[in-house]
Amino acid sequence: MGVAMKAALVALVVLGAGCPSEESIFGPATESVCPPAGTSLTYTNFGKPFMESYCTRCHSSELVGSQRQGAPSFHDFDSQFGVKAVSKHVDQTTAAGPAATNDGMPPDKPAPTLEEREQLGEWIACGMP
Ligand code: HEC
Repeated sequence: MGVAMKAALVALVVLGAGCPSEESIFGPATESVCPPAGTSLTYTNFGKPFMESYCTRCHSSELVGSQRQGAPSFHDFDSQFGVKAVSKHVDQTTAAGPAATNDGMPPDKPAPTLEEREQLGEWIACGMP
């Protein structure tokens, strides 16, 4: 292996060592854009059923302690406010768009389809109406 390659590997290991958990679940921003004509996706017809299908069995204000299965506090997706409060994190862990397809969340099945992840990116980009 060449010296440059070794140096690159060392750099990767060193950079990755800082935040192991964030490394594994966070991707880059998806850079999703809201369509010029706006979106037909709303909290009622998309956000709520999406969160209830894939997220609130861990991320809910009604769950405490081990019921959360490790989901951090203040990441409660059983309300529109709860999603809006950390929408950047939701984009970086769960949504898909031009710059990235993030599948760090949910950690197990059932998981959203790619199309649903793209819709999530769009809904967030449009301000989560
Ligand atoms: C099986 C339980 C479970 C499900 C379902 C789940 N999560 Fe998580 N979530 C976790 C755990 C555990 C962590 C902490 C992981 C870590 O830090 O490595 C986490 C962390 C996160 C974070 C990062 C919080 C921070 O540290 O800033 C976000 C954002 C998130 N989840 C969003 C979602 C979304 C959106 C869904 C639904 C698509 C979802 N999660 C489904 C368990 C879950």
